[in-house]
Amino acid sequence: MRINIFTPPKFHKSPLDIEYLNRLTQKEWHYTTSGKASIYHILKDLELDTILVPIYICDTILEPLKRLNIVPIFYDIETMDLNNSLKSIKKQFEIYNSKAILVASMYGNPANLVEIEKYCHDNEIFMIDDSAQSFGAKLENRYVGTFGDAGFFSFSTGKPTAGHMGSFFWSKNNINIKRKRHCFIHYFRWLDFYYNRYRIYDNIPFILKRTINLFSRFQLKLTDISNDDICNFEKEIIGGILLDNINGNFDFRENYIKSFISKFKKSSYFRIIEPIRGIANRHKFILLFNSKDIAKNFIKYMQEFSIYASNGYTLLSKDLEALPNAKEINKKVVELPVEDDKEKMKYLFEKVEKFEYKNIKR
Ligand SMILES: Cc1ncc(COP(=O)(O)O)c(C=O)c1O
Repeated sequence: MRINIFTPPKFHKSPLDIEYLNRLTQKEWHYTTSGKASIYHILKDLELDTILVPIYICDTILEPLKRLNIVPIFYDIETMDLNNSLKSIKKQFEIYNSKAILVASMYGNPANLVEIEKYCHDNEIFMIDDSAQSFGAKLENRYVGTFGDAGFFSFSTGKPTAGHMGSFFWSKNNINIKRKRHCFIHYFRWLDFYYNRYRIYDNIPFILKRTINLFSRFQLKLTDISNDDICNFEKEIIGGILLDNINGNFDFRENYIKSFISKFKKSSYFRIIEPIRGIANRHKFILLFNSKDIAKNFIKYMQEFSIYASNGYTLLSKDLEALPNAKEINKKVVELPVEDDKEKMKYLFEKVEKFEYKNIKR
């Protein structure tokens, strides 16, 4: 048995209906190739020097900031759900007098968006609602991703809407993108996704998979695709993933997560990260261990059984003096995959149970 990657859920191809997405969310969404590209287009005309960003998030968000010469100022998170600390946000704004913030709802759990939206509105701060990891989640009957002044979600790997590539964003400001097309690159991204993630357990020659992967990465390195438009072949892929996510066809994930919680909520080694507000769109098991060492041992142990386990995100700064909660959770988070496969999930549950037992016995 192998669960050695975040295999995306099987989706049904379906026409891409942006009008439907716009009606559903009351926003006007625009395509880009990635969450990074969306951040770039949202920020590029704002003339900012600094922006507040969470200390615990994927480091790729720093790329568009670097490109636009915007300095990130980090704010702390809450240990309860690994989302923003409002207290820390207010403190950092008082110190740094920045005019923008990116707020992410991590692991599908809605962040404190209502209060931050109000705070930003009252203080004339531009708020970006990053729902890369949470599109489909809701708070006060609004979709996460639609709060503040701009928002986006992404089809990159590891997201609830995981696909080969792509993102949608909206902004209250004018959007001006001189569109290009590199459909050959998009197609190789699709092949890479298809053979190396979506159908990874199929019997496909390793050399073919590896060549596609290398070629796809090489092309991406050489070409700037941040202004790219969507290609025709992708529309029914992105359209299908979007619709299946909105229609709850990926809800098997939530069901497994609920079973996991009922089985392991009394664990003596970890706490399962759960939403503290709204309706979540979870897609991974997220565990916060009591210590770094146990987290490390657990990852090693799971990998011995060919189960993918990773150590969450590396904090974006080493200067943690003003960010005590980030310091507290550092290297203690573990992510495990959820797959639409009863046998595999049973196997994963058994191994987690055995780890508990093995360690308790010691
Ligand atoms: C919260 C969050 N925001 C933004 C991004 C960037 O998205 P992309 O990988 O599509 O560029 C990521 C990527 O992991 C993310 O997790």
